[in-house]
Amino acid sequence: MTHRVTIRNTGHQFPAQDGESILQAALNAGLVLPYGCRDGACGSCKGRLVEGQIDYGRYSEKALPPAEREGGFALFCQAKPLSDVAIEAREVRKAGDIQVRKLPARVQKLERAGSDAMILYLKLPANERLMFLPGQYIDILLKDGTRRSFSMANAPHDDELVQLHIRHVPGGSFTDHVFKTMKERDILRFEGPFGTFFLREESAKPVVLVASGTGFAPIKAVIEAAFKKGVSRPMTLYWGARRPKDLYLNGLPQRWVAERPGFKYVPVISDALPQDGWKGRAGFVHRAVMEDFPDLAGHQVYACGVPIMVDSARRDFVQKCRLPENEFYADSFTTAADKADARP
Ligand SMILES: Cc1cc2nc3c(=O)[nH]c(=O)nc-3n(C[C@H](O)[C@H](O)[C@H](O)COP(=O)(O)OP(=O)(O)OC[C@H]3O[C@@H](n4cnc5c(N)ncnc54)[C@H](O)[C@@H]3O)c2cc1C
Ligand code: FES
Repeated sequence: MTHRVTIRNTGHQFPAQDGESILQAALNAGLVLPYGCRDGACGSCKGRLVEGQIDYGRYSEKALPPAEREGGFALFCQAKPLSDVAIEAREVRKAGDIQVRKLPARVQKLERAGSDAMILYLKLPANERLMFLPGQYIDILLKDGTRRSFSMANAPHDDELVQLHIRHVPGGSFTDHVFKTMKERDILRFEGPFGTFFLREESAKPVVLVASGTGFAPIKAVIEAAFKKGVSRPMTLYWGARRPKDLYLNGLPQRWVAERPGFKYVPVISDALPQDGWKGRAGFVHRAVMEDFPDLAGHQVYACGVPIMVDSARRDFVQKCRLPENEFYADSFTTAADKADARP
């Protein structure tokens, strides 16, 4: 059975098959709604159900607390229509033009970076190039049928190799493999690109970028692509890590500062040891942003990294620093542990 979905605020309509999520049905119809994990864990696809019945699907209560569900919200990557429905959602135009593909790739190089990051360079088959928007991610397809998401750290103009920055998640099967047994020339399969984390170029607002750990990967792609295109909006990057050595490419944003007027870089360290001799900013990375930008009303913020940082930044920037909620763009690096409290 087919149900009709109406996006009330834009008037667009599309069909959804029985059992199909609202997000998937929208994507099939060429309409892109904001999304990240597609797993009910990050909350990026949250929107309001205005009319009709849905099956809310399986999701984490961190991504959709009961009070928000009662207030009419749902996660469209999980929600499946049970009748014709009307929703309110933001639409994202740009990502829809790009074809999602499954491709094999060869591990070209594995580069250890900092204490818990690996830079993985993937080579595509001869004459293949991946079209993507800077900031998007791919899913590595594993033999057991599961997937692991990683953001591309290279900008589209620099597409000789696909570059991924992979944080080692203790007890995580794929990242354990990357750190312990993966070898150069191994073959992987992936699908992509996915996601709606990219620079909104139609805006002229100054940009604040916030990364924690390997959240630097998509932000690097966004910044390098913006430089290449000659985007002249002021950009300030905050990069947070536990110890200075965990800012595994610290020299790169330092070079951008030297070369690019209008670009600023603030490294922020949360757990420096005396032997680190750290004299820079200390504490949580999103707090450093709030100290420097107590009023974010005229800015756009792009945040990437561990879910606790992304969630705290979204909440505090909106509630305490007047950032309009729709000017916060993020990819939350959720793992299986974030889905662990998935509701039936
Ligand atoms: C859109 C997106 C983009 C991302 N981009 C990046 C990136 O660029 N760089 C990066 O480093 N990361 C990124 N991530 C995060 C990355 O996908 C995860 O870290 C990765 O999938 C972990 O895989 P794994 O197999 O090592 O761990 P998993 O097997 O996923 O396990 C993760 C943790 O959960 C625990 N766990 C597993 N199953 C359960 C369970 N049922 N209950 C409780 N705990 C459980 C494991 O012990 C482990 O500690 C991204 C995530 C998303 C959603
Ligand atoms: S995209 Fe739906 S919760 Fe992450």
